[in-house]
Amino acid sequence: MAPLLNISISSNLQFFPAFILILILILFPCPSAATTSEAEALLKWKNSLHNPTNHSLLPSWNLLPSYNSTSSSTNSSHSSCCQWIGIVCNEFGSVTEINLTSSNLKGTLQYFNFSSFPNLLSFVLNGNSLYGSIPSQISNLTRLTHLDLGWNQLSGNIPFEIGMLVCLEVFWAHNNNLSEEVGELHSLMVLYLYDNNLSGTIPSSIGNLSKLSYLALQENKISGSIPKEVGQLSSLMVLYLYGNYLSGSIPSSIGNLSKLSNLALSTNNITGSIPKEVGQLHSLMVLYLYDNNLSGTIPSSIGNLSKLSNLALSTNNITGSIPKEVGQLSSLKELYLHKTISVVQSLH
Ligand SMILES: *[C@@H]1O[C@H](CO)[C@@H](O)[C@H](O)[C@H]1NC(C)=O
Ligand SMILES: *[C@@H]1O[C@H](CO)[C@@H](O)[C@H](O)[C@H]1NC(C)=O
Ligand SMILES: *[C@@H]1O[C@H](CO)[C@@H](O)[C@H](O)[C@H]1NC(C)=O
Ligand SMILES: *[C@@H]1O[C@H](CO)[C@@H](O)[C@H](O)[C@H]1NC(C)=O
Ligand SMILES: *[C@@H]1O[C@H](CO)[C@@H](O)[C@H](O)[C@H]1NC(C)=O
Ligand SMILES: *[C@@H]1O[C@H](CO)[C@@H](O)[C@H](O)[C@H]1NC(C)=O
Ligand SMILES: *[C@@H]1O[C@H](CO)[C@@H](O)[C@H](O)[C@H]1NC(C)=O
Ligand SMILES: *[C@@H]1O[C@H](CO)[C@@H](O)[C@H](O)[C@H]1NC(C)=O
Ligand SMILES: *[C@@H]1O[C@H](CO)[C@@H](O)[C@H](O)[C@H]1NC(C)=O
Ligand SMILES: *[C@@H]1O[C@H](CO)[C@@H](O)[C@H](O)[C@H]1NC(C)=O
Ligand SMILES: *[C@@H]1O[C@H](CO)[C@@H](O)[C@H](O)[C@H]1NC(C)=O
Ligand SMILES: *[C@@H]1O[C@H](CO)[C@@H](O)[C@H](O)[C@H]1NC(C)=O
Repeated sequence: MAPLLNISISSNLQFFPAFILILILILFPCPSAATTSEAEALLKWKNSLHNPTNHSLLPSWNLLPSYNSTSSSTNSSHSSCCQWIGIVCNEFGSVTEINLTSSNLKGTLQYFNFSSFPNLLSFVLNGNSLYGSIPSQISNLTRLTHLDLGWNQLSGNIPFEIGMLVCLEVFWAHNNNLSEEVGELHSLMVLYLYDNNLSGTIPSSIGNLSKLSYLALQENKISGSIPKEVGQLSSLMVLYLYGNYLSGSIPSSIGNLSKLSNLALSTNNITGSIPKEVGQLHSLMVLYLYDNNLSGTIPSSIGNLSKLSNLALSTNNITGSIPKEVGQLSSLKELYLHKTISVVQSLH
C-alpha cells in the first residue's frame, strides 16, 4: 500500500538569510508588471469557468476601461485587480490573498496560472463547485501559507508538489473526492483532509510535522496501523482518525501528546488494549474509541483525566469492570460503554 503522505523536511531553506530576501524585494519591487499579469491570469481563469457572468463575485473582475471617467485616471488603475472582490494586494500592488469562499464557481483549476502569483499567501476557494484535479503547478505558489480547497468536487491525487510549499501552515481539502494523498508538507499546523476518498496508510514520517496542531483525516479509506511516530507530534491538540479502515493497536507513544484535547479513533478496526499511557493525556476532553475491536480492560489511569468530558468506548470487546477511578472524572458529561462486551457495571 502506498503511503498516504510522504513527508520530509529539507533544512536548506531554513537559514535563508532574511537580508537577501529584503534585498530582492528592494531590487525587484516590480509592481505594475506583476499586477498586470496577475490580473490577466485571473481573467483567463474566470473565462475558463462555466457561466462566468453569473458568479456572485466575479462581475467586478474585468479590465474594461471605465468609460464613465473622462478624467486623467491612469491605465494602471484599470489594469490592476487589487480592487476586485475577493482580492487583496500588498503595497506594491501584487496579489497576496485570493478569497472566493462560496462564490458559486464551477470549473477547474486547469487554467489557473499559478506562476503569476509569486506573492500569494492565502488561497481560499472553499464551498464552490470546482472539479478535476489539483494541478501540480500549485507548487509555483512558493509563499503560500494558507490553502483552503474544502467543500468542492476535486478528485484525483493530491500532487506531491504540494510538499514543495515550504511555508504552508494550513491546508484544508476536506469534503472533496480526493484519492491517494502524497505530499511532503512542511511548517504545517493544520491539516484537514476529512471526508475524501483518501486511501493508503499514514506514514511514519508524519512524526516530522512537529508544528501540527490539528490533524483531521476522518471519514476516508485509510488503512494500516497508527504509526508510533504520531507520539512525536508534541503540538497536537486534535487528532481525528475516525471512520477509516485502521487496524493494529493504539501506540503507547500517544501518551506523549500532552496538549491533546480531542482524540477520536472510533469506527475503525483497531485491536489490542487501551494503553495505560492514555492516562497521561492531561488536556484530554474528548476520548472516542467506540466501534473498534479493542479488548482487555479499561486502564485505571483514565481516572487521571480530570478534564475529560466525553468518553465513549462502546461497541468494542473490552472486558472487566469499570475502574472505580472513572468515578473521579469530575468533568465527565457523557459516558458510553454499551456493547463493550461484558463490562461489569460498578460505577460509583
Ligand atoms: C444567469 O442565470 C440565470 C438563472 O440561472 C439565467 O436565467 C440567466 O440567463 C443567466 N445569465 C447569463 C448572462 O448567463
Ligand atoms: C459608471 O456609470 C454607471 C451608470 O452611470 C454606474 O452605475 C457605474 O457605477 C459607473 N461605474 C464606475 C466605475 O464609476
Ligand atoms: C493606456 O491604454 C491604452 C489602450 O489600452 C494604450 O493604447 C496606451 O498605450 C496605454 N497607456 C499607457 C501609459 O500605458
Ligand atoms: C474568506 O471570505 C469569507 C467571506 O467573505 C470570510 O468569512 C473568511 O473569513 C475569509 N477567509 C480568509 C482566510 O480570509
Ligand atoms: C503564466 O504566468 C507567467 C508569469 O506571469 C507567464 O510567464 C506565463 O507565460 C504564463 N503561462 C501561461 C500558460 O499563460
Ligand atoms: C511550476 O510548477 C511546475 C510543477 O511543479 C514546475 O515544473 C515548474 O518548473 C514551476 N515553474 C516555476 C516558474 O516555478
Ligand atoms: C470521485 O472520483 C472518482 C475517481 O477518482 C470518480 O470515479 C467518481 O465518479 C467521483 N465521484 C464524484 C461524486 O465525483
Ligand atoms: C470515492 O470513489 C468511489 C470510486 O472510486 C466513488 O464511487 C465514490 O463516490 C467516491 N466518494 C465520494 C465521496 O465522492
Ligand atoms: C522524517 O521522518 C522519517 C521517518 O520517521 C525519518 O527517517 C526522517 O529522518 C525524518 N526527516 C527529518 C528531516 O526529520
Ligand atoms: C514517547 O513515548 C514513548 C513510549 O511511551 C517513550 O518511549 C518516549 O520516550 C516518548 N518520547 C517523548 C519525546 O516523550
Ligand atoms: C478487523 O481486524 C481483524 C483482525 O486483524 C480481521 O480479522 C478482520 O477481518 C478486520 N475486519 C474488517 C472489517 O476489516
Ligand atoms: C473478544 O476477546 C476475546 C479475548 O479477550 C476473544 O476470545 C473473543 O473472540 C473476542 N470477541 C470478539 C467478538 O472479537
